[in-house]
Amino acid sequence: MARSSTRAMTAAPWWPSWWGWAASSLAWTEASWACVSTSGAASSCLPTWATAASAWRGSFPRMPPSTLMWSCWMCGTRQTLCSYSKGGTYDTYIGSGWLIKGMDQGLLGMCPGERRKIIIPPFLAYGEKGYGTVIPPQASLVFHVLLIDVHNPKDTVQLETLELPPGCVRRAVAGDFMRYHYNGSLMDGTVFDSSYSRNHTYNTYIGQGYIIPGMDQGLQGACIGERRRITIPPHLAYGENGTGDKIPGSAVLIFNVHIIDFHNPADPVEIKTVSRPPEACNETAKLGDFVRYHYNCSLLDGTKLFSSHDYGDPQEATLGANKVIEGLDTGLQGMCTGERRQLTVPPHLAHGESGARGVPGSAVLLFEVELVSREDGLPTGYLFVWHKEPPANLFEHMDLNKDGEVPLEEFSTFIKAQVSEGKGRLLPGQDPEKTLGDMFQNQDRNKDGKITVEELKLKSDEDQERVHEEL
Ligand SMILES: *[C@@H]1O[C@H](CO)[C@@H](O)[C@H](O)[C@H]1NC(C)=O
Ligand SMILES: *[C@@H]1O[C@H](CO)[C@@H](O)[C@H](O)[C@H]1NC(C)=O
Ligand SMILES: *[C@@H]1O[C@H](CO)[C@@H](O)[C@H](O)[C@H]1NC(C)=O
Ligand SMILES: *[C@@H]1O[C@H](CO)[C@@H](O)[C@H](O)[C@H]1NC(C)=O
Ligand SMILES: *[C@@H]1O[C@H](CO)[C@@H](O)[C@H](O)[C@H]1NC(C)=O
Repeated sequence: MARSSTRAMTAAPWWPSWWGWAASSLAWTEASWACVSTSGAASSCLPTWATAASAWRGSFPRMPPSTLMWSCWMCGTRQTLCSYSKGGTYDTYIGSGWLIKGMDQGLLGMCPGERRKIIIPPFLAYGEKGYGTVIPPQASLVFHVLLIDVHNPKDTVQLETLELPPGCVRRAVAGDFMRYHYNGSLMDGTVFDSSYSRNHTYNTYIGQGYIIPGMDQGLQGACIGERRRITIPPHLAYGENGTGDKIPGSAVLIFNVHIIDFHNPADPVEIKTVSRPPEACNETAKLGDFVRYHYNCSLLDGTKLFSSHDYGDPQEATLGANKVIEGLDTGLQGMCTGERRQLTVPPHLAHGESGARGVPGSAVLLFEVELVSREDGLPTGYLFVWHKEPPANLFEHMDLNKDGEVPLEEFSTFIKAQVSEGKGRLLPGQDPEKTLGDMFQNQDRNKDGKITVEELKLKSDEDQERVHEEL
């Protein structure tokens, strides 16, 4: 009986044709194969169908009361002849002589999810002798099987890209740290774990042995934003014993993963200039400068986090003053006013492993920045600097009404005049009235509301006296 002819049977109604046919096919010849008919095969199982030496996990479906692995009937009698009650599947190698010959043949070519009935003539089963009191001599056997999964001990990890965002320039390598979402399922579709159920990506180094070998291999070469299916044979997953109550022994695992981002701990800020103003730009932002900039910040999957546009005014910062994340401090340097850049900032130059409000731990951030203005900052600790030497008799210049003392109003008027005449400048990025108030307080050492000639001192002179005050 050729296999092709038995396949034609599947079109016929199940039981009636089955019984009629089985009863009339008891005359086997030595050349017969086990008879096979198929239903329920997954449509695209080509990479994983049972071949000789495959390890096969199958079960017998729809058998009351439960736990029967596979079940045999003697043709025509519908009597249950053999059953297994250990629970779970029947796991074996096929085509390797571990099974009766008819089973070895009948299971070949099966796909996961496929159901077959396999009719085995006695000479490919238990022959003239039968088996104990269970299987009589010369019995033809009928097996109904469902293939749960199958793999070969030589199988490697199988990868299938489901979605690849355009413009992928970088692929993950061993040693990268990756954040990804996944659904993990068995070959029969049972989901055993999902990162989505925890509302949190799975975060790990890859290729370093922190995860099962199959995932360590399967995540390498992935792009940010990619969706891929990783099929892992048990010897690269949890082996013959499985783990927990969700992953049975010898199970093939299928992970559908979505790569959110990855980075390497050695990554610098990645800077891409998007546009520059047409006019020549003589001075670019440098450490110590006071800058104003607009920004949009998002995660690499497109999730928008923050934007300066939400507040109207640009963000202000002194570069290198530890006021913004390191990645921005670096990424804003060298910018011309009016320039736009895209900055990719790895977490060690952003909010680190623990993240921040609204920023997941270990997240890579994408900034779009536009430098609105820049001006030279002041040396650390200074509120005002002279561009040239200050006047020799500073107090006399300051004491506008020549009464020998300088109240706040006189002091402010004098300093503002210096600024407007371009002789000096105030600390940028702070309300000038506050700066002037602070400067005045620093000089009014006895706090009587006026500065005297004895009190007035330049910061540069004080620094030599190792006193830390400011002017
Ligand atoms: C995940 O988020 C959803 C919606 O915000 C919420 O209903 C659910 O309880 C969260 N689950 C966990 C495990 O935090
Ligand atoms: C599986 O379990 C058996 C019995 O507990 C044990 O002897 C065997 O070493 C285990 N195999 C592996 C690969 O852990
Ligand atoms: C995981 O399953 C959920 C629910 O079916 C689905 O929304 C999500 O896209 C799946 N994720 C992946 C990476 O396949
Ligand atoms: C830039 O430098 C050129 C030549 O040194 C000079 O003529 C021009 O005024 C400068 N522009 C600005 C905006 O400083
Ligand atoms: C931020 O996004 C808004 C809206 O898409 C856009 O108009 C603005 O130019 C962006 N800002 C920067 C600095 O790229």
